[in-house]
Amino acid sequence: MKLSAEQIVQNWNDLIKVIEDNFKGERKEKLLAMYTDLEERMSMQPASSIDHYHNAFEGGYVDHVLRVIKCAKQVYKLWTEMGADMSGYTEEELIFVALNHDIGKMGFPGEGNETYIPNDSEWHRKNMGRMYKVNPNNQFTLVNDLSIWLLQHYGISITWNEMLGIKLTDGLYDENNKPYFMSRTADSKLKTNLGFVMHQADCMAARIEYERWAKTKSTSTPFKTAPAKNTYSKSAKMQKLGAIASKGEAGAAMKMFDDLFGDKK
Ligand SMILES: [Fe+2]
Repeated sequence: MKLSAEQIVQNWNDLIKVIEDNFKGERKEKLLAMYTDLEERMSMQPASSIDHYHNAFEGGYVDHVLRVIKCAKQVYKLWTEMGADMSGYTEEELIFVALNHDIGKMGFPGEGNETYIPNDSEWHRKNMGRMYKVNPNNQFTLVNDLSIWLLQHYGISITWNEMLGIKLTDGLYDENNKPYFMSRTADSKLKTNLGFVMHQADCMAARIEYERWAKTKSTSTPFKTAPAKNTYSKSAKMQKLGAIASKGEAGAAMKMFDDLFGDKK
C-alpha cells in the first residue's frame, strides 16, 4: 500500500481544513500552530508499524485520522437515529477527539524524536511485515498519554470530555479503560457516550484500513532517510508538491516526490 504524492498533499490540506472549519479563535490558532510545527513529520508518518495492523505506510497517519473523523460523524449520526442520548458533549468536542486521538503517535518534539522510524531490517519487513520500528531513543509512553501531553505542550487547553474521549478511544483494548467502561454502579457509569462513539469510529477506520491492505498485501519500503534530513525545507517540499498536484500533473508530481524524498521504489 502506498499513497501518491498528490494524495499525501491532498490529505494534509484536508486535515488543515478540518481545523479551519470546526474551531475558532485562540483554540483554532493554537491547533494550526501545532499542526504546522508537526507538518513535516505528521504528513509522512504511518499510523502503525506493522503492515497488517493498519496504514503502515508513508502518509498513513493522516489518512487514518481523516477516516476516523468521517467515521465519528457517521457513528454519531447512527447513535442519534437509534435514539441514544447525545447530550453532554458538543460536536466540536467530538471532532477535536477524532482529530487528536492518536497525535501521541507523532512522538516527542524535536528532530529525530518521531515514534515510528523505517525498519532497517529487510528480514523483518519481508517476513513479519514490520515496516517501521518504534524509536528506541524515546521514553516509553502509551499513545493516549503522549497525545494529552502534546496538547498541553502546545498550550491547547482541553475539556474533560476531550481528555476522556482521547483516553477511551482505544476502548477495552487498553486495560486502563476498564474501570470507565465496566462501572459497577449507576453513578460511576460514563455520563456521555462520547467514548463509545469514538471507540467504534476508531475500530471501523482501522478495520477498513486492514481490509484494504489484506486485499493485496502490497507494501512499500519506507524511506531510509527521514524527510527532515533532506536538504529541502518542509514548506518548500509541500509547496512544490502541492503546486504540481493541483495542476493534475501526476507524473511530474511523482518525479518530484522521488527527487525530494529519495524514494526510488
Ligand atoms: Fe486511531
